[in-house]
This record gives sequence, structure tokens and C-alpha cells, in this order.
Amino acid sequence: MTAQLNARGDVAVLVPAAGAGLRLGPGGPKALRLLAGEPLLVHAIRRVAAAPSVRAIVVAAPASDVQAVRELLAPVAAVTVVPGGAERQESVSLALAAVPPGIDIVLVHDAARALTPPQLIEAVAAAVRAGHPAVIPVLPVVDTIKEVGPGPELEVVLGTVDRAVLRSVQTPQGFRHDVLAAVHAAAADSLTDDAGLVEKAGLPVTCVPGSELALKITRPMDLILAEALLHVS
Ligand code: C5P
Repeated sequence: MTAQLNARGDVAVLVPAAGAGLRLGPGGPKALRLLAGEPLLVHAIRRVAAAPSVRAIVVAAPASDVQAVRELLAPVAAVTVVPGGAERQESVSLALAAVPPGIDIVLVHDAARALTPPQLIEAVAAAVRAGHPAVIPVLPVVDTIKEVGPGPELEVVLGTVDRAVLRSVQTPQGFRHDVLAAVHAAAADSLTDDAGLVEKAGLPVTCVPGSELALKITRPMDLILAEALLHVS
């Protein structure tokens, strides 16, 4: 599973963008929310398309918005748009089924990480190309993390996890195409990321340094932060 891929290692990027984005408050699918006048998805795809290894991009859009997303992205990059599913994992599976032939490496990248720099996309692809079957970008955890459980009234602390061994995980997550296809085909339960499926299959998942710019735009404050970061990304 760690054999070196051919030097070209052509890359497809799957972009699950079919989520409702309820945590951002009312206002339609998150990927279509505006950041400085443009949908998050446009910001994300522009950066994906600027990564030199990327040969194909497949977006999973909300089922009701497939045609609108095609029209939105046509001027930005050559993109295949498919209807997404009820859960993120299903959206990824549907996008994976639309990957064209001849692709060795598949990256899965959340539309919500709209400011992810092309350099991070290349770094993840390069690590897969170098022989790692699954690669994730990570950042150190800045907060102290406690494990909690229900108490008589409020939650109570069960323990403190050693912060030094914790990482927060970003996208794009990169995979050998055959590995991602195999774990998705075998997936029984739904996980929040694709590397989790690889872990469950007992294969190694390798970390590369992430980027502060790859923040996930989830809550209203993230939109304000992202707007402030636009001039550096
Ligand atoms: O909900 P969450 O923020 O974890 O979603 C991460 C990414 O997965 C988002 O880009 C969202 O659009 C996408 N997603 C999807 N299909 C779903 C749910 C989420 O493509 N059914």
C-alpha cells in the first residue's frame, strides 16, 4: 500500500459542498454564502484550480442547486458537478464515482475551507505521491481539551487529554485513489472525515503541516475572520 506512484501522480479534487450550513445561521447552503461578494465555493474552487497537479475537480452540490452551481463555476474552472447526498460521506462517495479515468491521487476538500492556499493542496498531493496512502493537514491544538460527561446538573470533567499529542485536522485530505475507493465501498457507518475510514481499515494516515488559512468557515464569526484574511490568501 505504500508503493511509489508514478512521478506524474495525476490529482482529482472532490469538493463536498452539499451541506445546509445551519451553524452559519439562516441563508441557504453554506457553500453558496457570500464572502466579499462571491460564494465560498467560488473562492475554494479558484484556489483548487490554481494547484498545478490538479487535473480534475468534482463538486457535490445541493441536489436542488446542481445547475446553478454548474453555471456559477463555469467561468472559474472546468468542474464536474454532481448532486450531493444526505450526509457528507455520501456526498464524497457520489463525487468519487464521477472521477475520470487515469487519476492516481484523490483529494477531498471541504468547500467551507474556502481560503485554503494552493500550496497546501500541492503539499498534500506530494506526500501521497511520495508513497503515503493517506495524508491529512494538521495544526497543533491551542486550547486545553477536557473529556466531559453528564453530571447531576451540568457537565463534569472526566479527564484532561495531553494537548501535546493532539492535532486539529483540516482538508484537503489526500489518498491513493484505490485506497479511498476501497474504504468508501466498505464504509458501514458515517464519519466526519475520510481519513477516519482509512484508520478504521488499519492503514497508516500521515500528517503534514496545515495552514491557518485553511480554517473551516462554520459560524458567523468565521465569515468575519475570513473576510479579514482575504487580502493575505
Ligand atoms: O457540516 P460540515 O461543516 O462538517 O460539512 C463539511 C463539508 O461537507 C461542507 O463543505 C459541506 O458542504 C459538505 N457536506 C456535503 N453534504 C452533506 C453535508 C455536508 O457535501 N450532506
